[in-house]
Amino acid sequence: MKKVITLSQLREILLKWSKQGHVIAFVPTMGNLHAGHIKLVSEAKKKADKVIVSIFVNPMQFGEGEDFESYPKTENEDNYKLTEASVDLLFFPSVSEMYPKNMDTVVSVTSFAKNLCGGSRPGHFSGVATVVAKLFNMVRPDLAFFGEKDFQQLAIIRKMVCDLNFPIEIVGVKTERELDGLAMSSRNGYLTEQQRKVAPKLYHSICQAREKVLLGKEDFRIIEVEQQEYLSTLGFNVDYFSICRSDDLQQAHDTDCKIAILVAANLGKPRLIDNLCFSK
Ligand code: PAF
Repeated sequence: MKKVITLSQLREILLKWSKQGHVIAFVPTMGNLHAGHIKLVSEAKKKADKVIVSIFVNPMQFGEGEDFESYPKTENEDNYKLTEASVDLLFFPSVSEMYPKNMDTVVSVTSFAKNLCGGSRPGHFSGVATVVAKLFNMVRPDLAFFGEKDFQQLAIIRKMVCDLNFPIEIVGVKTERELDGLAMSSRNGYLTEQQRKVAPKLYHSICQAREKVLLGKEDFRIIEVEQQEYLSTLGFNVDYFSICRSDDLQQAHDTDCKIAILVAANLGKPRLIDNLCFSK
């Protein structure tokens, strides 16, 4: 696996690959890689000649008091995992390469970032959209791969690509889970032994809600409250538990067919998110 840190090094390789007519797939990450990221790489490898992964812990998507400073950095382990997964190129830019001092332009996300994580993390999705737009312009991939675990992020990136005419196919990849159902996440590493035992209940609560939705006996807003109460009694501090329409992430009602149930909750310090999408 080649590794580059500057845009000019990246462009040199991309020029060669484009002359050779290669299809390029891109997997943007913030490092601290787990099996979920490696799944993105393996899906990317199925559809492209060359796979590029970026590792950049993006300061612009962390709010005040969030975990930017302490975000886990595991460079050697990440290099090893990406080499094992036969990634062709790792792009590992510095903060000054991504955000030169005089940078004055951001991507602003409006209605899709109003609720859910966007509601409780102001500026987060503008930070995500800005860095992803910059990375897309730097890497110029044919396809880009994102995990469905970050469901709102994926929806926002799809919308941005459509609105700003990026010629890139966005591929969403199913959430990888631990055997007990916990969605894989870099932040799971923050859980204490005791919290780790409770954490899978987040996914269980969404599965319970799906059963209730499919039974069709209860109002969706009542199901949301019941599931929040269930999680609170287990020690979660719930930010939201929302039954939404999967296409626009607005509140769903019992006449809607395509449903996404999304939850975010803190278990002690770590903020966990998860979701489940289905049709009824
Ligand atoms: O999902 C992530 O890891 C990040 O939000 C992303 C897409 C790499 C942008 O920094």
